[in-house]
Amino acid sequence: MRTILVSLILFMGTCLAAQELPRLATSKDGRTQLLVDGKTFIALSGELHNSTTGSVEYMDNVWKRMKDMHLNTVIAPMSWELLEPVEGQFDYTIVDKMIEGARKENLKLMVLWFGSWKNGESTYAPAWVKKDTKRFPRTKLKGGDETITLSTLGKATVQADANAFAHLMRHIKEVDHDHTIIMMQVENEIGTVNMRATFQGLPNDAMRDFNELANKAYTSDVPQQLISYLKAHKKTLHPAILNAWDANGNKEKGTWEEVFGVGKKVEGDWHTSFSYLTEEIFNAWNYATYVEQVVKAGKAEMALPMYVNAWMKAPAQTEPGIYPSGGPEAHLIDIWRAGAPSIDFIAPDIYAIDIFDTILEDYTLSGNPLFIPETTKDIDGASRAFYTIGKYGALCYAPFGIDGGGLTDEPDFDPWYYGETYQLLERLMPYLKEHIGTDKCNGLYLTKGRDTDSVEMGNYRITMTRFSTAAAEALFGTGANKVGVVNMETSGALVIQIDEGDFIVAGGLGGASLTFSKGSKSKANAAAFLSVDEIRFDKNGKEYYHRINGDEVAYAGVGGSIPVGTVTAFRVKMYEY
Ligand code: DGJ
Repeated sequence: MRTILVSLILFMGTCLAAQELPRLATSKDGRTQLLVDGKTFIALSGELHNSTTGSVEYMDNVWKRMKDMHLNTVIAPMSWELLEPVEGQFDYTIVDKMIEGARKENLKLMVLWFGSWKNGESTYAPAWVKKDTKRFPRTKLKGGDETITLSTLGKATVQADANAFAHLMRHIKEVDHDHTIIMMQVENEIGTVNMRATFQGLPNDAMRDFNELANKAYTSDVPQQLISYLKAHKKTLHPAILNAWDANGNKEKGTWEEVFGVGKKVEGDWHTSFSYLTEEIFNAWNYATYVEQVVKAGKAEMALPMYVNAWMKAPAQTEPGIYPSGGPEAHLIDIWRAGAPSIDFIAPDIYAIDIFDTILEDYTLSGNPLFIPETTKDIDGASRAFYTIGKYGALCYAPFGIDGGGLTDEPDFDPWYYGETYQLLERLMPYLKEHIGTDKCNGLYLTKGRDTDSVEMGNYRITMTRFSTAAAEALFGTGANKVGVVNMETSGALVIQIDEGDFIVAGGLGGASLTFSKGSKSKANAAAFLSVDEIRFDKNGKEYYHRINGDEVAYAGVGGSIPVGTVTAFRVKMYEY
């Protein structure tokens, strides 16, 4: 009887967890986590090419390949044009097949809503929207030329997009009982952009929408909703917004140029100088309030977590209009929060690797959780997964075009790097889930110009240096480059502190030596290792420890060496004396 009762309670618990919607939760220590079935979930993910879900036949063999690469989540597009090819007639075949394919492989899905915009433009809007430029107005460039981009100011456009998205969410609610879909990205890399200016060097003429509706709005008063937000959040506003508002007298009423100043081209450091900022703020407000209507309509049907992603401002693209103007850039987070309160967070697409760290810092300011929906899928991208998850507690890490075979594929794309990386992270998941986002979890990163990196945790210092120390070479040989990769500049690692002198460290790919030593807080004379074990897995995936207290760790005084092109995890136990 007791056994039956216990089984019943367990069964009911499982059912309740499955009914619980995936959601974001902030713990007592302030970290945001993604909860799936009530438990912490770290998305080891990849984004499919834009066209992979363009037909059911094409996507058929993708899911198993993703599983074989040890992803636990796939990010996949659902376009408005394939959902609502004829106004009011909805076709759910694509989304149903996506759910079916992912579910069969025990994968989770995050769905990209390619609605009004994809990379600024409106290529995925249905034909009935594209052809009716009166009902669905387009943006104009500064000189007055009409673009192929839908304007944020078309009332019928936002209603149509929101209606389609609401249908999608209603359908997901009806069919996806086990929550294979755990999150939605709403639109993709939005903002006005003239790609001929971006890629062919033509003058920038897309710093904002210049159609008649936009020109009228631009010379009208800034909405009070935005002013009230600025007033209420003055202490935490991003310096870009605060300075513009301050410099123009903190006005509580006035046109965009009266409140934020006349936008102009500004020379200077890409990170702290803001060309055409007023135009960008204006656009951000219009995009945010548009997206808010879409998200609200969708969440009213099924309240999955929803986010927006950004094509980033970067040293090579410093002007809005050259990169999409008004998208969820880090310096516009306040405008997005004010205009789109139903959005859960903003996310960076990271291709500008030189500024990788800066982007991670920017996108974790003021409580925004880090979530990377797109980054590079080369070996370096795989290395950065360890660092990003370890140091920043990323909710998701995803290279773009993970299924390969796309126009934008790097020539050296080899799924092996991500496969090995994700397999190791998957195996370390129990440790990670317990510590991610706390000061017990950290990351290390070697890149161009950074040959050493270190962190202090408790009484110890953990230092990462290049693999090719004389001692490590003596052990593994200089030919330890398993995959023949030329670029060996990047290496990443994560460190988990299980107990005061007890660590797990995992990472690699560009090769690394990891040294544990006495930290600045220690009052002891010195510190040394008690034991170093390589954490290995047998053919059934069962973890076992392989003691390596000899040559492997003693020659170079290291806690572990990771040959180039490989990933490894170690358990290092230290003591002070
Ligand atoms: C960023 C976009 O968001 C993706 O849809 C895709 O176009 C990639 N760029 C291509 O690199």
